[in-house]
Amino acid sequence: MEKIEQLQSYLQKKQFSQLFLLVDDNTSVNCMPILLEKIDEITDRQAVLLEIPHGEEKKTVSTAENIIRSLAQSEADRDSCLLSLGGGVVTDLGGFVSSVFKRGIENINIPTTLVGMADAAIGGKTAVNIDGIKNLIGTFNFGVLKNDSVLSYDVFKNKVFLDTDFLSTLSVNQIKDGVAEILKTFLVADEGLSRKFLDSPIEKNAVVPYIEPCATIKERIVSQDPYDRGIRKSLNFGHTLGHAVEMFYNLSHGHSVAVGIHYALDLSVKHCNFPYEKAKAILQFIEINYELPPYDKDISQLTDLMRQDKKNTDEKINFILLEDIAKPCLVSVYQV
Ligand code: GLY
Repeated sequence: MEKIEQLQSYLQKKQFSQLFLLVDDNTSVNCMPILLEKIDEITDRQAVLLEIPHGEEKKTVSTAENIIRSLAQSEADRDSCLLSLGGGVVTDLGGFVSSVFKRGIENINIPTTLVGMADAAIGGKTAVNIDGIKNLIGTFNFGVLKNDSVLSYDVFKNKVFLDTDFLSTLSVNQIKDGVAEILKTFLVADEGLSRKFLDSPIEKNAVVPYIEPCATIKERIVSQDPYDRGIRKSLNFGHTLGHAVEMFYNLSHGHSVAVGIHYALDLSVKHCNFPYEKAKAILQFIEINYELPPYDKDISQLTDLMRQDKKNTDEKINFILLEDIAKPCLVSVYQV
């Protein structure tokens, strides 16, 4: 991940044939002015603005099709670049369109939410939903290879530019959403950062110093397993129940991940001997900061939803659990 200040020179260096700026109706009002103030190149090059409605329910094939149509109408070619300015929905959609439009144009992510900065915008996963099923189709988008015949570490770092000024546009709940993803990454990868983070207050200024360490951990894991066949799966800690909770209670993704981490920690104590005292501190952090739905009571409906998760093979449900902090393991269970 690079800092926003480097975007100007990156755009000048790359000499794209055209720039396209993808925003939603929130980021166009709240974030675009902050971006344009800093990056003259976008205004000077008269970037074409593509605006979509906000919200997870708009992360559809039909929205992707509209973006593609607009790119075609503006005569985008393979040397064009799409800059995606927004949270996970915008960067997932922008990344998806970039990876398929004329078989691939360059995509740059400029995340505006804490979830995006710490997780969603990093690692090349793109997706759209179909019939309400999250991320049913998507790609791994590691950018356009020019002249390189060998895939290198750098190729797996898609272009993400960080500007923490966008955090001022977020609500407390949106910050909490990002905190859940940061906590997840630290729990699967770094005990020292986990402890420090659990002791920090949940507020904008306090979380800023954790964004880059979190992004660096994710980039390292992605570079080891770009196509999500091994260690990258550990980044789904808390997501198995989390995705089901998101659908069932209609909670935000980050809040649902916090609930999923709570459940996965309980399972980790039960199935993997995760140290109970450590679990207690993390469970308390979640209970204090997030409202927990009665997931125990609803577990049979949630189990049905978990079985539909695309990552599950046959009838078993795959959970990423922890033997200890920074020691993830994959556990398949028939019955939760
Ligand atoms: N959000 C998990 C991953 O990118 O693999």
